Amino acid sequence: MPRIKIAPSILSADKSRINEEIKEVEKYSDLIHVDIMDGIFVPPATVDSDFVKTIKTKVPLDVHLMVHEPSDSYIRGFIDAGASSITIHEEACRNPMHQLEFIRKNGIKAAISIKPKTPLENIKKYLDFVDMVLIMTVEPGWAGQKFIDETMPKVRELRKLKPKLDIEVDGGITPYTARVAYDEGANVFVAGTSIFGKKDRAGAIREILSSLK
Ligand code: DX5
Ligand code: ZN
Repeated sequence: MPRIKIAPSILSADKSRINEEIKEVEKYSDLIHVDIMDGIFVPPATVDSDFVKTIKTKVPLDVHLMVHEPSDSYIRGFIDAGASSITIHEEACRNPMHQLEFIRKNGIKAAISIKPKTPLENIKKYLDFVDMVLIMTVEPGWAGQKFIDETMPKVRELRKLKPKLDIEVDGGITPYTARVAYDEGANVFVAGTSIFGKKDRAGAIREILSSLK
């Protein structure tokens, strides 16, 4: 199994002081997870690539596009803003292969995500063309939801199919649910509320990590 990576989600951070917020987690993070919502694929709308440009950190930016049919130029905006990986949704794209190829052609990592009710079957044809798969463990769109256990068989099956692939889980991740997902084969853990919702962010990350020992 690939190494464990912790990815705090800044959806739950204070955006007006984003660089200070990131400073508090930087030392203990492998990725900074940036949620982009368009108000179409998911009801809420969030920050755009101009905001991502203002983020100053050495930690790789893991951009999660909850966006309907992202165009080449839209994706390019995030690459130019400093993304080191971009995740698209299978449900949001007519031909996800196009976006995946475009992302990789531009020299960064490409990932594909599925919502809790989307079967793993839908993305099997892309597995040789991605650097990571994001199995959503809540319905995309909001922080602070409850982890959906029924998504775990997909993680288990995917880990069997791809022993070396980064498998990311996102939504309702706490020390407890991180352990549940880890036992099924997940190795990249996105956490918003359980990190930025706490005063002691470093302590919160340590708690997640110690649950994985
Ligand atoms: C939800 C986002 C998540 C969100 C997770 O659509 O993709 O990244 O920030 O938040 P928590 O950890 O609070 O479930
Ligand atoms: Zn996310």
